[in-house]
Amino acid sequence: MNQNIKQISLISIAIISTSLSLFAGDLTKAYDMPDGKKIFEKDFLDKPTKYTLPKTCNLDDKESIARGKYLFHNINGGTAKGDAPKGLKKWIETKDKNGKVIKVAKDYGNCIACHDIENSIGGGTIGPKLVDYQKTFIKTGARDAQFVYQKIADPRIDLASTNMTINLASKLINEQDTCDITAYVVSTKAVEKKTTTKK
Ligand code: HEC
Repeated sequence: MNQNIKQISLISIAIISTSLSLFAGDLTKAYDMPDGKKIFEKDFLDKPTKYTLPKTCNLDDKESIARGKYLFHNINGGTAKGDAPKGLKKWIETKDKNGKVIKVAKDYGNCIACHDIENSIGGGTIGPKLVDYQKTFIKTGARDAQFVYQKIADPRIDLASTNMTINLASKLINEQDTCDITAYVVSTKAVEKKTTTKK
């Protein structure tokens, strides 16, 4: 074997074995969890982070609640129907690999994928029902807005093995979005009359 090629192969082997040993811990963890991809993403996050409900977060603000509702029921600004409520963007500008400014859909909460809530269409069942949350959890003092804010921001503080999305700690959504969704979850929600679409 040519000396150069031999050296390159040795270097590659060294790199591969170093990477394998770096990821060894993660691979073993993946065995007892169903979704390896999620674990992989979680391992790249910082440690579980404690958050405090910001003083600027006005839970009674109707505009904030409206934004929270929109964030709760939609995946991102690209697929969300209708106009976004005041103060919420559907698209954000970022730079691609070559430094060119591009528009991408803003990520929303998509809480509806796992939770049922008032007036939802097809709420998910992975997470607990959040219907009547104010009456059941807030008014009784079982939970408060700080708990909900932390839950949305980084649920690992409350439950290390959580299956809920990590929203603020992962920078999926920002502080204002977290505040808006909190305001929505703890708010009184009028139940709209559902019209059946059966034909
Ligand atoms: C992938 C599924 C999933 C998504 C998406 C999700 N959750 Fe959850 N959520 C859960 C599960 C599971 C729990 C049960 C406790 C836990 O695992 O932390 C939970 C618990 C909660 C609780 C605590 C209820 C209580 O008082 O005990 C709140 C509040 C909550 N989620 C709100 C949200 C909001 C708001 C969003 C959107 C930003 C969201 N969740 C997105 C799965 C999810």
